[in-house]
Amino acid sequence: MIKTSPAQLPPACAMPPASAIPPGEPADSRSRSLLEPARTGSHRAPLFARVPKLVGMTSTGAGSFDRPGGIPDAVSVLAAFGLAGRVVDLTPVSGAWSNRVYRLTTSRGVYAVKQMRNPWRLPRWQDWLDAAWRFEQRAFDAGIAMPAPVPNPLDGGCLAWVPPSPGSAPVPVRVHHWVEGQAPSPQPVDRDVAIWAGRTLAMLHRLDIRSADRELYPAPNTDTADGWAELAAAARRMGAPWAADLAAVTPHVEQIAALSRQARDQPADETFSHGDIDQKNLLLTPDGPMLCDWDVAMPMVPRRELADVSLSLAGWRDVELARDVIRAYRVAGGGDTVIEPPDLGPSLTSSLDWLAFNVERSIGLRTAEPDDVDLARRLVPQLIAALPGEVGAASRVREILAT
Ligand SMILES: Nc1ncnc2c1ncn2[C@@H]1O[C@H](COP(=O)(O)OP(=O)(O)O)[C@@H](O)[C@H]1O
Ligand SMILES: [Mg+2]
Repeated sequence: MIKTSPAQLPPACAMPPASAIPPGEPADSRSRSLLEPARTGSHRAPLFARVPKLVGMTSTGAGSFDRPGGIPDAVSVLAAFGLAGRVVDLTPVSGAWSNRVYRLTTSRGVYAVKQMRNPWRLPRWQDWLDAAWRFEQRAFDAGIAMPAPVPNPLDGGCLAWVPPSPGSAPVPVRVHHWVEGQAPSPQPVDRDVAIWAGRTLAMLHRLDIRSADRELYPAPNTDTADGWAELAAAARRMGAPWAADLAAVTPHVEQIAALSRQARDQPADETFSHGDIDQKNLLLTPDGPMLCDWDVAMPMVPRRELADVSLSLAGWRDVELARDVIRAYRVAGGGDTVIEPPDLGPSLTSSLDWLAFNVERSIGLRTAEPDDVDLARRLVPQLIAALPGEVGAASRVREILAT
């Protein structure tokens, strides 16, 4: 049932041991987002403070699974989540960027097992995950189309800590029922998916769930833009092949910073939402689209998320499709749909942060495992190329999203 009155999230659920926090890169309390260039496929810009999501690429290279920690032990996963049956198979799934996802087949069912990695080294990532988990459950109860989450039977939380192998330190995992479906291509989605997304977003926003702990989430800032000249100089010193391109987008970076400054903080207007809706986190099933990856749900200004989702699903170029999302949102009872350029400030800041994150990984300013560095090096040229188009769309958003 959809709730229309404000509600507080319940208190945090049980916390895992602090010593078992997964390894990650140096602290970065901001977030990232990206768009692939229109020619090679869209990618949405998540709002600030969200996990990177890329489209159409795989992170399941050989190096991904032999790192310290390894693959979670499937028998232990079943035990930790109280699942019956015996293990038949555990296969890595492509499309997981921030974490590691496996398809676990048992004699009784099929599950998606996600090993959480905290790649941004957020100090309070578990608090955030707890809040996101509570929101995910509310959304599920409200009938949003999504994979059914499996709580751990011990405390009802989403995480359990399982050893990858005997004697190894436990790693945090979570589990959902597996959904047979396809990830949409990074191109603009089909019209029925756009309409579904608008309707789904309206349902989420109408839950009107407020955050009890706004400080938990990163605040928007212009740090990345402010340090752009320095980053571009470092890339040049390191001989990065795209260093000149990085410097060349400086005017766009400055525009993003200006939009971000204009986007005033509006905590009173924020409501919890998924926060990472784009092609990458959709699954197309015979019964219709489903929305997965709720780990970075956070409070956000609904209109800003709507702007981000509509342009992302439209590949930042299919105007009519973006408008379909907006219209469906309005028809389904969503609120404010009058979008101004600064509403895309957080989204573009997120894109910029994600680009900078990958630049830093590419040139060794940020520690990362070899497959993450490879990924970063593939991404950076695409992210640079996408930036001007996104900034251009943001500056024309009144006209683009006028319905
Ligand atoms: N329950 C599920 N059923 C089927 N596929 C899933 C499920 N959960 C995730 N996936 C697939 O795995 C990919 C990565 O999962 P996701 O939760 O998005 O990981 P990450 O946090 O790393 O982005 C998804 O894009 C989707 O294609
Ligand atoms: Mg994802």
